[in-house]
Amino acid sequence: MRLNIVCIPGDGIGPEIVTEAKKVLNKVAEKYGHEMVFTDILMGGASIDVHGVPLTDEAIAAAKAADAVLMGSIGGDTNTSPWYQLPPEKRPEAGLLKIRKALNLFANLRPAVLYEELAAACPLKEEISAAGFDILIMRELTGGLYFGERKTVEENGVRKAIDTLTYDENEIRRIAIKGFDIARKRKKKLTSVDKANVLDSSRLWRAVVNEVAKEYPDVKVEHMLVDNCAMQLVKDPAQFDVVLTENMFGDILSDEASMVTGSIGMLASASLNDTKFGLYEPSHGSAPDIAGKDLANPIATILSASMMLRYSFDLDREADAIDAAVKKVLQDGYRTGDIMSEGCKKVGCKEMGSLITERI
Ligand code: IPM
Ligand code: MG
Repeated sequence: MRLNIVCIPGDGIGPEIVTEAKKVLNKVAEKYGHEMVFTDILMGGASIDVHGVPLTDEAIAAAKAADAVLMGSIGGDTNTSPWYQLPPEKRPEAGLLKIRKALNLFANLRPAVLYEELAAACPLKEEISAAGFDILIMRELTGGLYFGERKTVEENGVRKAIDTLTYDENEIRRIAIKGFDIARKRKKKLTSVDKANVLDSSRLWRAVVNEVAKEYPDVKVEHMLVDNCAMQLVKDPAQFDVVLTENMFGDILSDEASMVTGSIGMLASASLNDTKFGLYEPSHGSAPDIAGKDLANPIATILSASMMLRYSFDLDREADAIDAAVKKVLQDGYRTGDIMSEGCKKVGCKEMGSLITERI
């Protein structure tokens, strides 16, 4: 099979981790008889430095023409980087929001899994972590506060900023359908998270989720308020399977969920539209403080490449091979700094990539 993949190395540790993911994918191609065609595009700060904007129309066109996009990370230190002196629409993150919208990537899947081998890194009390957990946060990605009208005005000498949170029922329905479809393939439990005790957009969210739920009688659905969900994620994470929520809540809860695994450097993500097309990226950020030092953990990006093979190309056997190689490396005791524990062998980004590649 010929796989046309656009890569966005991006900023910070992005280029290093994408290089390792390509290494693994090339090995998969060699072993299973595929052809990987990689085309790099610029996004974020890397694009600002060359083109003055975080994402060009040409880059969007290249991404659209591909079968899937594999991304590293974008953005820099918001306190010190000159990128953050630019107007908001020219900053690195604007490129990410633009590509999500341009490619209609409305469904963001963020697994938060407690790895047996890394249980020691879990910050929760042992009596809580002992149950293990495997949560899939499904975040709506192209609506809500992120894409509503916003402006800053001055009224009678007082500055005022306005952000708008809107959802129409179609936007809610399509992510709910994706959520239920996926819940059906997992443990058949879906927790829809909202703030229906305050927000109209949440009341509509809840109503539409209930409508969709009627088509999935085999999936158990429950509704939870977002503040309670934030609490439950640290109190009893094992109660969750699929967590379905809107854009902003999903941004916050997915960071929380990934942190309680203790290994954010391990967590992949997929952003999907209605077709097989998807953008795959690690759940973590660009970590500018360790960029270029061969210290980053490439596993989240490598597992994102595995998700790409599974969701965009239906190459389950190849994806399984990557997942198994990652597991084997951990069992063999290799760790990058972020997941290091006593008695393990500490390795850098490149070596971790090579160790996984060898095990494909
Ligand atoms: C994420 C990030 C982005 C978001 C930022 C970089 C705009 O935090 O992917 O979770 O808020 O969606
Ligand atoms: Mg975030």
